Amino acid sequence: MIGMFDSGLGGLSVWRQLRHALPQQDVVYLADQGYCPYGERSQAEIIARAEAITAWLLQQGAQLLLIACNTATSAAARHLRERYPQLPIVGMEPAIKPAVLASQSGRVGVLATHATLQGDKFRQLVAQFAGDTLVVPQAGKGFVELVEAGELDSERSRAVVGRALAPLLEHGVDHVVLGCTHYPFLAPLMRQLLPAHIDLIDPTDAVIRQTLRLMQQHGIATEDGDNARYRFVSTGQPPSMAHFLQHTLGTNAGVEYIDLPG
Ligand code: DGL
Repeated sequence: MIGMFDSGLGGLSVWRQLRHALPQQDVVYLADQGYCPYGERSQAEIIARAEAITAWLLQQGAQLLLIACNTATSAAARHLRERYPQLPIVGMEPAIKPAVLASQSGRVGVLATHATLQGDKFRQLVAQFAGDTLVVPQAGKGFVELVEAGELDSERSRAVVGRALAPLLEHGVDHVVLGCTHYPFLAPLMRQLLPAHIDLIDPTDAVIRQTLRLMQQHGIATEDGDNARYRFVSTGQPPSMAHFLQHTLGTNAGVEYIDLPG
């Protein structure tokens, strides 16, 4: 069984691809909506949340941990790997390398949360891969709240997303990296707002491939049975997750609500 988590509903952008890649794999998805957003929290707070959630997912039988959140990966993945050296852990990180390799203009934008853009991991990725390319960081202020509210295309979401994209356009970027798992849900809106020559880079496919690789390396069966069981769990309040699953992902699954102090 794969255990995955995010601060909220964003990681469902990873889950929806995972379920196609591994249609028979059981998955428990925990949305830490009671503590969302992570992007404005301190590293210590995010580590405490990641610790509590990982311990809970392991109790449920997780054999692999997928941190479906760039912010939590940046803040806590190293800590979790030290704490659980035997546990295969897959994390998310902004796809700076492919964006730099594909850029013609020598300018790429990275949309992520404030915490991710301030983190060491982001600095390291820029130092390692940017070369002569200008990497323009931009916080997606208000994006997470829009996705949590299921507001993927409204007048308000157009204004919020347009405001964040404007500085990237001014810099002449030709690639925009989606460095937060909530943002792929706003990608159709971004596509409408961006000129056609600007590409969006979403690392989800690469993360799914890494998940499959680690499962093989650790001898985790990729086929559990005929029908995968999906559990959706939230530390927040109903009904936002159930609504989102139904309206955005067409999944009629029930949601379990738990208290998980960190
Ligand atoms: N979905 C998250 C990420 O990938 C976190 C968003 C947040 O809670 O601020 O960074």
